[in-house]
Amino acid sequence: MTNKPRVFVTRRIHPEAEAKLAEAADVEFWQESTPPSKQTLLEKLPAINGLITMLSDPIDAEVIGAGVPDLKVIAQMAVGYDNIDITTATTNGIPVGHTPGVLTETTADFAWALMMAAARRVIEADNEVRGGRWQPWGPDVLTGMDVYGKTLGIIGLGRIGKAMARRARGFSMQVIYFDNHRDPEAEAELDVEYSPLGELLTRSDFVSIHLYYSPEVHHLFNRDRLSQMKSTAVLVNTARGAIVDPDALFEALQSGQIGAAGIDVFDPEPIPAGHPILKLKNLVITPHIASASKETRQKMAFMTVENILAGLNGQPLPYCANPQVYDSDRS
Ligand code: DGY
Repeated sequence: MTNKPRVFVTRRIHPEAEAKLAEAADVEFWQESTPPSKQTLLEKLPAINGLITMLSDPIDAEVIGAGVPDLKVIAQMAVGYDNIDITTATTNGIPVGHTPGVLTETTADFAWALMMAAARRVIEADNEVRGGRWQPWGPDVLTGMDVYGKTLGIIGLGRIGKAMARRARGFSMQVIYFDNHRDPEAEAELDVEYSPLGELLTRSDFVSIHLYYSPEVHHLFNRDRLSQMKSTAVLVNTARGAIVDPDALFEALQSGQIGAAGIDVFDPEPIPAGHPILKLKNLVITPHIASASKETRQKMAFMTVENILAGLNGQPLPYCANPQVYDSDRS
């Protein structure tokens, strides 16, 4: 027995970050690549002081409600934390850490890759070649859509949205954005123009979503919104799957209401095997890997460990999702 605090980690993170954590805590790592079940979490939580989570772990009121008096901190290895019931965590005096900032450029790189791949049919072309169908050069073989000089509509001008706007400059694109708050400083610095959502959808050749998920944006991209987009437009989503209604997206892609989509997130995740959308050639789809560069995942792991160690030591988390927890008497 040691007097070290006890930590449960719902996946392996990064060897060096794991070693740093193990110096200060008794750590149990979940060894599977799939998340622990809710039952497992309910069994582990009463005995631990710190919990490291991934965005695929549903940390709801049942998991962190009553019965976890010794739990001092949760540290999520992601910038988004919509899988965690922040209200319950705050009410119970539990600070929640996350990893803002470090994945901005990596995620924007990937959104850009999806946009290019969908516009220029990169995956479809690759499949043709691998399938033994390299057609001789022809004027209309696998023709796609130019990106250079087109109009990019950014939904959500936060860190990643701004990183997209910077990339767009190199492609001489006109950039318009929609957000709940106008950002005159960013408009001047990045040469981007604010546009109401409906107008953005009708003007954009590419629409890229960079919003935090909240119930207010659930299925924001529904049949109506998708029908306002150009028939050639490409929709890119690297934010959260539930911002786009999956049935409406399937219909819009299948009917040619929009040109193509490049998506890294889906509702639900993982996508059910055999989902009809997977048959569509005008869809490029990846399994929520926009932040998955080795360098970025290492930084995320270290930030997560910094957060958990601070919480275990009773210090404010350096990257805290619910700073209001420190205003509460219970903290
Ligand atoms: C996040 O961090 O929220 C991304 O979706 C995954 O890295």
